[in-house]
Amino acid sequence: MRIIGTIDEMRAAVRTARAAGQTVGLVPTMGAFHEGHLSLMRRARAASDLVVVSLFVNPTQFGQNEDLSSYPRDEARDAALAENEGVDILFAPEAAEIYPDGFATSIHVSGITDVLDGASRGAFHFDGVATVVTKLFGIVAPDVAYFGQKDAQQILVVRRVVADLNLEVRIEACPIVREADGLAMSSRNVYLDPAARQQATALNRALDAAAAVRGSGERDGERILDAARRVLADADITPEYLELRDVLTLNTVTRVESDALLAVAARVGAARLIDNHILKGDV
Ligand code: PAJ
Repeated sequence: MRIIGTIDEMRAAVRTARAAGQTVGLVPTMGAFHEGHLSLMRRARAASDLVVVSLFVNPTQFGQNEDLSSYPRDEARDAALAENEGVDILFAPEAAEIYPDGFATSIHVSGITDVLDGASRGAFHFDGVATVVTKLFGIVAPDVAYFGQKDAQQILVVRRVVADLNLEVRIEACPIVREADGLAMSSRNVYLDPAARQQATALNRALDAAAAVRGSGERDGERILDAARRVLADADITPEYLELRDVLTLNTVTRVESDALLAVAARVGAARLIDNHILKGDV
């Protein structure tokens, strides 16, 4: 596996692969790899000739009071894990390579970024994501890029950018990978002390409880949400949001008649965690 830090070298490597008729798969990440990241790498490895993983803790998607400075970083460990998955190139640029002096462009997706994490964290967050992902697509020019359903809204934002800017890349959404007790894997789970780690299991249990109510045939949004609210309250968790939204438009859903995204965000101990389930419209 090659580790590349510059855009010029990255482009040259892709050019060589393309000249040899190879397809290119990209997995964008911020590092601190866990099984969620590795599952995306495996999907890419199975489908593409050249597998590129980007590792860049993107400063523009973090707010002033967020965890940019404490975000877990261990490039040597990440490189070993990526190599073990058969990744060909780890693209790990410095911040100045991606945002040189004079950088002045930002991509803003309107509408779907006004809710959930866009409302909770602020509009800057998805502007930062949209901008850096567009840059990565420009640098790597992948045929396919892999994203986790864990960040469901992020996938919608990226799909919107790709459609609106006519980018030639296919976006593949991959299922959420969970710990044995159901907690969605996240680089931020390392912030959880043992008590908070236990408490955090309530997020997925809450979503499961709501899904069970939906599974019994209930379509009323409030009744479905109530089941989740009870589990969170029992665990002493006050969510930043717990909402049912259309899977494509993110419009509020009051009655589940088609597939709905049930999404939650909450502070648990020292971590801000998110999770989601898709509730089927046709149960
Ligand atoms: P990061 O949080 O490192 O996540 C990288 C990719 O891994 C994302 O597509 C995310 O959805 C996926 N992922 C994270 N946890 C997962 C899990 N438990 N199961 C499945 N997939 C999971 O998301 C980002 O980085 C950044 O916003 C990025 C897209 C790289 C732009 O900076």
